[in-house]
Amino acid sequence: MPESQQSHRKDEHVFLAEKYFRATADAGFEQVRLVHNPLPETAVSDVSVTPHLFDWQWPFLINAMTGGSQQTGVLNAQLGRIAHALHLPIASGSQSVALREPALAKTFTPLRSENPDGFVLANLGASATWQQAQAAVAMLDANALELHINAIQEAVMPEGDRDFHWLDAIADIVAHSHVPVIVKEVGNGMTHEALTQLTAIGVQYVDVGGRGGTNFAQIENARRSAPGPWTALADFGQSTVESLLEVQASPLTVIATGGVRSPLDIVKALRLGASAVGISGQVLHWVIQDGEAAAQAQLASWQATLPVLLAALGAADLAALRQLPVVLAPELRNYVAQRQLTLPSPD
Ligand code: FNR
Repeated sequence: MPESQQSHRKDEHVFLAEKYFRATADAGFEQVRLVHNPLPETAVSDVSVTPHLFDWQWPFLINAMTGGSQQTGVLNAQLGRIAHALHLPIASGSQSVALREPALAKTFTPLRSENPDGFVLANLGASATWQQAQAAVAMLDANALELHINAIQEAVMPEGDRDFHWLDAIADIVAHSHVPVIVKEVGNGMTHEALTQLTAIGVQYVDVGGRGGTNFAQIENARRSAPGPWTALADFGQSTVESLLEVQASPLTVIATGGVRSPLDIVKALRLGASAVGISGQVLHWVIQDGEAAAQAQLASWQATLPVLLAALGAADLAALRQLPVVLAPELRNYVAQRQLTLPSPD
């Protein structure tokens, strides 16, 4: 089957995300310090890391990446098996290509067929219709739906959308959806103003999708024959940590994705109010560099590390973690002051 332009684009995204992958991200986690507790008075056997979000056992998911080409179908099968083995929730890459070309659905469905009892999240852009949203959920028998909002990526993409009206479509999808809907940025971060707008139309879940990890301005730029004026957007937006500070006082359930590179990053995001954390580029890197078994082993080691970190901090669960002291670097305090946010405090 000759691959369409859309399929080619999916392969390019994977190739370029891996090409630009950096082991150390710039999502702001180094600007957040948890305070060491010399007397934790907790044991690992006392610790629970259950996020109390859906039926998830772990406070992190393998977040949206791919599908839409033969090669990315193979990748989705690998990711589906890893999610199944480790009981990790997993999100699909954008399924819009499979709604347009139904023959490509089979490059997404391994996320479900390899992971029959797992928690699978469907994924579409926020300009989709509610009928398309239902079709995407049905394609994967999905437990939730991510709607990505990605104005900067679209702006940089040569073939990208030039219309960024999304609230009406999101409201329609939320109103018709039988599964939870998560509105997800893809790397330029969130604001408290956007959260207020989303809350007003009934959205209950948001993924802040902060800057500092996989960078779609950089990836889309690299797909151009010559770099354009868009290179200036390479560092645009709010980091994942800044985004978490933006949404602190929110009644919405918050997932934090973008530049998560270690279990300590996860713990810091949870401390700053995330209910769970999403990881994409790091998982892709392990699978491509080291293979499926090694990627699974790495993620299993993260699972084993989380309760140890909480125990060492003296937190028996995620609620206790959110009570712990945290110290922010001056840049973050400055951000909080200029944006008139509140500093994180125990909740
Ligand atoms: C993505 N991401 C993504 N997000 C989304 O909502 N729909 C999509 O189709 C894709 N596609 C995609 C492809 C590839 C190859 C990667 C690496 C990522 C974005 C992803 O879910 C996540 O928000 C960002 O990658 C930031 O997280 P990391 O990679 O820094 O952990």
